[in-house]
Amino acid sequence: MDHFEYRDGVLFGEEVSLADIAERFGTPCYVYSRATLERHFRAYTEALGSHPHLICYAVKANSNLAVLGLLARLGAGFDIVSQGELERVLAAGGDPAKVVFSGVAKQEGEMARALEVGIKCFNVESLSELERLDRVAGKLGKIAPVSLRVNPDVDARTHPYISTGLKANKFGIPVDEALKVYEIAAGMDNLRVVGADCHIGSQLTELSPFLDALDRLLVLLDRLKDRGITVEHLDLGGGLGVPYHDEHPPAPFDYAASLLERLAQRHGEQQLTLLFEPGRSIAANAGVLLTRVEFLKPGETKNFAIVDAAMNDLIRPALYQAWQTILPVDTRSTRETNTFDVVGPVCETGDFLGKDRELAIAAGDLLAVRSAGAYGFVMASNYNSRPRPPEVMVDGDQAHLIRRRERLEDLWAGESLLPSKGSETE
Ligand code: LLP
Repeated sequence: MDHFEYRDGVLFGEEVSLADIAERFGTPCYVYSRATLERHFRAYTEALGSHPHLICYAVKANSNLAVLGLLARLGAGFDIVSQGELERVLAAGGDPAKVVFSGVAKQEGEMARALEVGIKCFNVESLSELERLDRVAGKLGKIAPVSLRVNPDVDARTHPYISTGLKANKFGIPVDEALKVYEIAAGMDNLRVVGADCHIGSQLTELSPFLDALDRLLVLLDRLKDRGITVEHLDLGGGLGVPYHDEHPPAPFDYAASLLERLAQRHGEQQLTLLFEPGRSIAANAGVLLTRVEFLKPGETKNFAIVDAAMNDLIRPALYQAWQTILPVDTRSTRETNTFDVVGPVCETGDFLGKDRELAIAAGDLLAVRSAGAYGFVMASNYNSRPRPPEVMVDGDQAHLIRRRERLEDLWAGESLLPSKGSETE
């Protein structure tokens, strides 16, 4: 459930009209709901109840400082994949002791900084990375806490670009090799084995792949125990899907309940701390992208609604053919319904936000692209030299600007002209 609803025909974010936000901050504009973010985060913590757990929000989904800050205040940990994300977490008041560091190629400097601030765990994805971490920790006189990201070879049955737990994917250490790599890790001077983890993909709409992955990891933990290696936590990554259209993904409660049931069947495993790295299921439906219709362009085979947001602002439809609901902000005036491709001003045929949408709209109307709170702004670019949109957070009847619209001069800040050559005519 989220807090974007119609009130008397006008779409609101909590108690603020999206039309008022467009008026105040212009379009295109990302709008997030604080109450929705908090609700989605609490769905995890409440589902896990008294079982030891840590919810490490995946920063990549939406890394605005305001988003990180409000989650930090709720006690969230964070899953990061770069030093940039680490510095954001720290700038937002996040606790480094609750940070896990994922990613296939952490650089030495990134490892050093994470060791310096004392993160909870490095999720290591290969033997080479393990060796690098041991070396960096040794140089700093630190002991690095590690978990191995195991690739359990289960099919997440999601879009191939966001499936990560198959042998054919670049992620993790193959489950059959994990035992050997754990033994190597346990023998390294500057590492301490603390966990095991996996992340099999994103936008999963069924529980069975998660349970299959859990089963494979539990078999691994048994084998490790036989060799005297015990872990404190099991990190199952992120991946729980959200309803974009007609999907019915399991709720965090059902997900947690089935995992806890599996763990309870295993004697002695009840107290294994569970970590999760949810991104999308916390942020996606806590945000919309507001955009205004510039022109309606009727065609012989297609009608186009050309809007002021484009693929550079929200790339998911173009990149993954992702379906995101598009709603008129104000439904009060009567207009003719037509079928439109909702497209942006960028010079690419792939620049669309939605295809074949039934909409009753006219030029000048506002539209809200739903489910844009995750993998929205964070994947935005300046393609076609378009400044990135502002981000606004509604909180009850207040709307806060949490990132200003980029200015034109921001586009070339950091660039420079070449020095002129003597031979050139002035
Ligand atoms: N942990 C790891 C190691 C990950 O790689 C990811 C996402 C997450 C956690 C968070 O997964 P989530 O709960 O959000 O599904 N840009 C794509 C999604 C890419 C996800 C990459 N990894 C999209 O827009 O659909």
